[in-house]
Amino acid sequence: MLRTLKGQSFAGKKVILRCDLNVPLKDGQITDDGRIRASLPTIKHLVDQGAGVLICSHLGRPEGSPDSKYSLAPVAERLEELLGQPVVFAQDTVGPKAKAAASLLSAGGVVLLENLRFNAGEASKDEVERKLFANQLAELGDALVSDGFGVVHRKQASVFELAELLPSYAGLLISNELEVLERLTLNPERPYTVVLGGSKVSDKLGVIGHLLPKVNRIVIGGGMVFTVLAALGNKVGKSLLEADQIETVKGFLAQASELGVEVLIPSDIVVASGFAPDAEFEVAPADQIESTRFGADGIGLDIGPESANRFAHAVASSKTVFWNGPMGVFEFANFAHGTKAIAQALTEVQGLGVVGGGDSAAAVRALGFEDSAFGHISTGGGASLEYLEGKVLPGLEVLND
Ligand code: 3PG
Ligand code: MG
Repeated sequence: MLRTLKGQSFAGKKVILRCDLNVPLKDGQITDDGRIRASLPTIKHLVDQGAGVLICSHLGRPEGSPDSKYSLAPVAERLEELLGQPVVFAQDTVGPKAKAAASLLSAGGVVLLENLRFNAGEASKDEVERKLFANQLAELGDALVSDGFGVVHRKQASVFELAELLPSYAGLLISNELEVLERLTLNPERPYTVVLGGSKVSDKLGVIGHLLPKVNRIVIGGGMVFTVLAALGNKVGKSLLEADQIETVKGFLAQASELGVEVLIPSDIVVASGFAPDAEFEVAPADQIESTRFGADGIGLDIGPESANRFAHAVASSKTVFWNGPMGVFEFANFAHGTKAIAQALTEVQGLGVVGGGDSAAAVRALGFEDSAFGHISTGGGASLEYLEGKVLPGLEVLND
């Protein structure tokens, strides 16, 4: 059983709160604050109880030492605005500044520590190093509330080892995310469709094999589509391609047909002259990507309109849908149509429609959809996918009795 906040009081205690405040930044500005907003209920809950709250998080993937590009300073500012109370930003994670901030922390006060990954121990592959860092973190507080759902699939010091050192509990965000994931796994209403896109090709190709026995349809768009098209013997110009994954793709296509799972891949592609918002473009059949005026230099940046319609219909006619990863380069208006069509269809699902993950959540908000239009917007892409695959998530496992 997951240890949760139910029945716990942290009045007068110093609580380390592990959040996932890994938000997208552009020129030092937060472009989507969804993960900060999603963290507020637990922060407020602890503040209202009279706990001193020491928030920690990672941001981006710095290499284990301080890198100002990945500072949480802009997050501290936004958090202060959203929370409506002062947030003290400690400029290190476990160093003298963090210690000073922690010792000055009063009941109901909030401190944000600097990026956990500025310390090599946080994401180290070496368990001993992680434990050493976790010990340093543990000195700052009396208990751990783990609420960084987006990072529970990582065996990292603040997610795993720290939870073994202090009395530790899942926060409200994790509890809420798990409720939805349980609905997706225990007896989902059918048809059940999973839509996969995005550019992290090799990550997600692995996922497909595990999802096949659980779903009725898999819809594939985004960057990974070109590896699938290549596996079917097509040329893909300069589009994103992971040649070493072709055999994996062939494997899951065969498995899908054995299991009777429908795999929808695009029949047309928006092919561009280059990777730029103002690139010229043409729609081509998916098996003739090199037939445009850009020839073998063409690069696929979105699914075509016919595919978008077909995918949208598959989504809207399902009873359960989980969507992870944009269909194209939605950041460029000319190549956002496929992603928009899926988002729109997801809002029409008569059942449970879930947007899974940081990038997909940022995409739907950037495209102008309201959070409330969807059944649920998850804060964790990798984490939800691994949960749906049936994997053990270290950051949850460690919170179980
Ligand atoms: C994410 O955005 O995927 C989570 O915050 C985890 O980050 P990571 O993939 O860098 O571990
Ligand atoms: Mg990630």
